[in-house]
This record gives sequence, C-alpha cells and structure tokens, in this order.
Amino acid sequence: MHLLSPQPGDAILDIGCGDAVLTFKIAAAVAPGGGRVVGLDSSASFIRTAREAARGKRLEGCTDFELVDCRVLNPTVVTEAAEDGGDGVRTAHVRTLLQPHSYDKIFSNAAMHWILRSASTRTSFFSDTFHLLKPGGTFAFEMGGHGNINEIHAALVAVLHLSYGIPIAKIQEANPWFFASEPWMREVLQGAGFEVLVCESEERPTKVTEGEGGGLERRMRVMCGAFLELVEEAQKEGCIEKVVQVLGDVCAREDGGVWLGYVRLRALARRPL
Ligand code: BEZ
Repeated sequence: MHLLSPQPGDAILDIGCGDAVLTFKIAAAVAPGGGRVVGLDSSASFIRTAREAARGKRLEGCTDFELVDCRVLNPTVVTEAAEDGGDGVRTAHVRTLLQPHSYDKIFSNAAMHWILRSASTRTSFFSDTFHLLKPGGTFAFEMGGHGNINEIHAALVAVLHLSYGIPIAKIQEANPWFFASEPWMREVLQGAGFEVLVCESEERPTKVTEGEGGGLERRMRVMCGAFLELVEEAQKEGCIEKVVQVLGDVCAREDGGVWLGYVRLRALARRPL
C-alpha cells in the first residue's frame, strides 16, 4: 500500500477489493478530508462481506462496494450491472462510478492476475483505468508476476494431462491467471498513456504452513479451482493429492518446510497532467 500513499480527501478506486481488509485501511486514511473509496469485485460473497463490514465499522459514508467484472471498466460498455433489479438503478450507479476523471488514485492488490486472464481485455483494461483517473492521478498495484508459483502450475498441468487425460490445450484454456512480466507491463502501461514511475518484480519464496493462508493442499483448493473443474467432482481430491506428492521433493527445504516460489510484480504509473 506504500506506493498508493492515500491522503485525506482522496477519491480512490480499489480494483478487485476482495474482502476489503485493505480498502478499509485506505478509507481510514482518506476519510478525514472527505475522501472516499470505491471497491469493486466480481465475487458476490466478497462484496456482501465488504458491505456488512462497512456497516459494522460505520464507514458506509466514505465507502461504496459494487459487484463488477473488472475486466471492463468502461461506462459505455457496461450494459447491465450484475445486481440490477430490472429498474436500471444499479446500472446507472455503476456507470456513474466509472465516469472519466473520477479518481485521484487507483489501487489493486493480488487481483490483476485474475482480471488480466482474458487476452481480449488485457490491454483495454489499462486504457479503462487511465480514463478513470484525473490528470496527474496515479495507479498503484501489485499482482503475481511472471514465473509466479510455476511449480504448482507445472505439476497441475502434468497431473491433469498424464493422469486424467485432459488435453494440454484444454488445460491452457482453463488457466485463470496471467502473470505479467516487467517488460510487458511497462510497454502496456506506456501504450495506454501512463508515465511509469515504478515497475519492478520481486521473488518472494514463501513457506506455506497450515496456519496463515493454509498449507499446500488448502492453497490449491482456494487458488486452483478453475483447473480442478476439469476433472470429475469425485476425482478432485485424488488430483490434489497427486500434485502435492509431485511437489513434495520440489518444494521441500532444509528446514523441513514446504516453500512456494511466489513472484510479485508491482508498479506505480501516473496519468500525465
Ligand atoms: C497470488 O497471489 O500469487 C495468487 C493468488 C491466487 C492464485 C494464484 C496466485
């Protein structure tokens, strides 16, 4: 969140806000000067959780959470909001939130590797965010970078193909992630009109334990759902077990722990004045 540097009075958009833990931290920083934060996510359960939490924290006045597929953030393309009751009210509201020049800052954490999964909207996403910013506004984000959790990805593809006979092309089609490289990201940001102030990737090997975030099996259930959909319900547990077996040696370290090769890509880009 340090690249975002939220200030009192800022209007901020949080793309892929999830359960909004960070959104509320941002809200606390901007609220004193009359600022506000809009959190968007494509998960109905995350948006429900965020709205309930806002009521509990009495932050409804400076936060707004909306169910939106963030691959497209263009008011002329949003034809019907997911929660529209048929009267057009929600659609009109979402369109209002996506008007050009609406935000001082845009933020996204650990969501863009899902949002950029479709090649058809991968580039237009950045022109959409560019237009949402006021001139001089900034876009700060962190996401999975090129090579992120490569070991899980490779083991999953191998097990799905070799043990369950799923064609490689079908597995690639089901891939729910896009882990961008630094040069790709710089080029796309600049192509959309941004001035790139920071763009860096960092290897972050992470020990996965049953406590925080869960061990390997639990992480696979949470992160790899789209791949696991390729096998029958009754085969899912067996598939997870095989991948965990394959990764046993690969991810083991001298400390006896299981480590995953997370890679983070973070950037700060500015819409010129
Ligand atoms: C990540 O944060 O690196 C990540 C999260 C979910 C799925 C894949 C990667």
